[in-house]
Amino acid sequence: MSQHFTHDVLIVGSGAAGLSLALRLDPHLRVAVLAKSALSEGSTRYAQGGISAVLDPGDSLEEHIRDTLEAGAGLCRPEAVRFAVERGPAQIRWLQSLGMQFTPREGHEDECHLTREGGHSHRRVAHATDATGRALEETLIHAVQARDNISVFENHIAVDLLTAAKLNRSPQRILGAYVLDRGSDRVQVFHARSVVLATGGANKVYLYTSNPDVSTGDGIAMAWRAGCRTANMEFIQFHPTCLYHPKAKSFLLSEALRGEGAKLLLPDGTPFMHRFDPRGELAPRDIVARAIDHEMKRLGADHLYLDISFKPAEFIKRHFPNIYERCLSFGFDMTREPLPIVPAAHYTCGGVNTDLRGRTDIEGLYAVGETACTGLHGANRLASNSLLECLVFGEAAAQDISQRWRQWPVAEQLPDWDESRVTDSDEQVVVSHNWDELRRFMWDYVGIVRTTKRLQRAKRRVDLLSHEIDEYYSNFRIGNDLIELRNLVQAADLIVRSALQRKESRGLHYTLDYPKTDDSQPPRETLLTPPNYVPPASQDDAPVGTSTDKKRDTIA
Ligand code: FAD
Ligand code: SIN
Repeated sequence: MSQHFTHDVLIVGSGAAGLSLALRLDPHLRVAVLAKSALSEGSTRYAQGGISAVLDPGDSLEEHIRDTLEAGAGLCRPEAVRFAVERGPAQIRWLQSLGMQFTPREGHEDECHLTREGGHSHRRVAHATDATGRALEETLIHAVQARDNISVFENHIAVDLLTAAKLNRSPQRILGAYVLDRGSDRVQVFHARSVVLATGGANKVYLYTSNPDVSTGDGIAMAWRAGCRTANMEFIQFHPTCLYHPKAKSFLLSEALRGEGAKLLLPDGTPFMHRFDPRGELAPRDIVARAIDHEMKRLGADHLYLDISFKPAEFIKRHFPNIYERCLSFGFDMTREPLPIVPAAHYTCGGVNTDLRGRTDIEGLYAVGETACTGLHGANRLASNSLLECLVFGEAAAQDISQRWRQWPVAEQLPDWDESRVTDSDEQVVVSHNWDELRRFMWDYVGIVRTTKRLQRAKRRVDLLSHEIDEYYSNFRIGNDLIELRNLVQAADLIVRSALQRKESRGLHYTLDYPKTDDSQPPRETLLTPPNYVPPASQDDAPVGTSTDKKRDTIA
């Protein structure tokens, strides 16, 4: 028999999106927060550069909006951009009210020091030295721990969502989730009036990534299997500068380094970015990552360099203490020498299709943070707009749930997890082999530069793996690795299918077969629809991107 838990709201994920949402819910609601490993583990904790918000009187909301739209290459939803940007300054004040310490402006202790990153026309990134994510995550965890309506379940991995349609009940709505307790290896049943997916991105689908191990696209895959549409999954952002070192596991070298003047260099010490874009090192990320990829391929180099050693050592250590220490631990003194760099998969711009309130296609199911596609990022995310998105849409979703939760009764009866027909696996090697194979061919065939032939090759392999994993999943008892692999393959499938749909190059999607942006028609999002999609009962319940919206491509 499975153990059952009942809450008003189940939040899957404990990063900036999940925790900020939990804190902003009506405090009378009983809330569960799941983290599949430690509470603090997730991309949020590793964020370096900061949170973008218009805080400088010389800057303006209109300019932040313009920069975001420009980076997004025609695919941002303008209403989402305005919504996020206008709420930015209030998010910083909210975090300060919780006790988060941002690096102050020199001589003005009550103001945030603002750094600059690619694509921003102003200094507008508030930060806590070069470890903003750590300060943010600690602040949120501290606040959550002080709240007695929020229960935290660490080492609990959500396996699949429970919906009315799945149980042949109607009308369609969310009922809860199956969750594996990694401590006891038992699957539990979580009943909830509302469920929030805040599981981060899917960037572990690539061999080289700046992301921690938890970024396996679980929320996107679960939502898809439950019947939600995804949007813009082809747009995977590659961060231009990760430390090149066999033991560094793609340690990120923040774009704020380039914001403070760091130069990209070829192996012979020549700068090259000015040949690709007049903004040089501070061009948007897609352009910088492609330029690096191009130069590496042209020269047959396995890495290039990032140099800030010409700045005073004291400046570097004060602004980038965390990066300085980490590089030193790998044998590089950035105050004296250029650092070897390579691009790595960093951010999933697409995701579960939502509206401005975080609503998905299933009543009571929300998606926030990197899991969601709100339309803020379009075809390429502007640096430091992600934490902003987590906070703004986390708040909006919390407000929506707090107003609506009474209309969703708790499902009293949900079936136990059925293990009667499975056995323990004696072929664990299948999981680890498939995991490696997937990440390698995604890197080789669906990376920074794509072709139709490579995408088709990837598609054939994804289909094979999906088939093999489905079979394995039905026959053997589940564990963490199998759950994650199943989700990674699902995410890969969505990425490849979306990429094959786009017959042009735009933003982060660059293909040699269609190297130009197609300006002959209005830009279109790639909206994928799962076979079990149930259209919302009323138009008021429909997220942006339903049939009345002409800007979106729908494919089954
Ligand atoms: P995450 O913080 O990734 O949290 C995901 C949570 O979901 C974790 O708690 C995880 O355990 C949980 N989870 C996942 N699957 C399951 C499951 N099946 N069951 C239970 N729990 C699950 N963005 C910026 O705006 N500024 C920056 O400076 C910046 N720097 C970055 C630096 C690095 C190295 C990286 C990797 C990213 C950076 N980003 C930055 C991007 C940004 O950090 C992330 O997009 C953002 O933190 C995502 O937050 P999230 O809450 O959506 O997910
Ligand atoms: C960085 O510090 O370079 C990461 C910023 C981001 O991903 O937004």
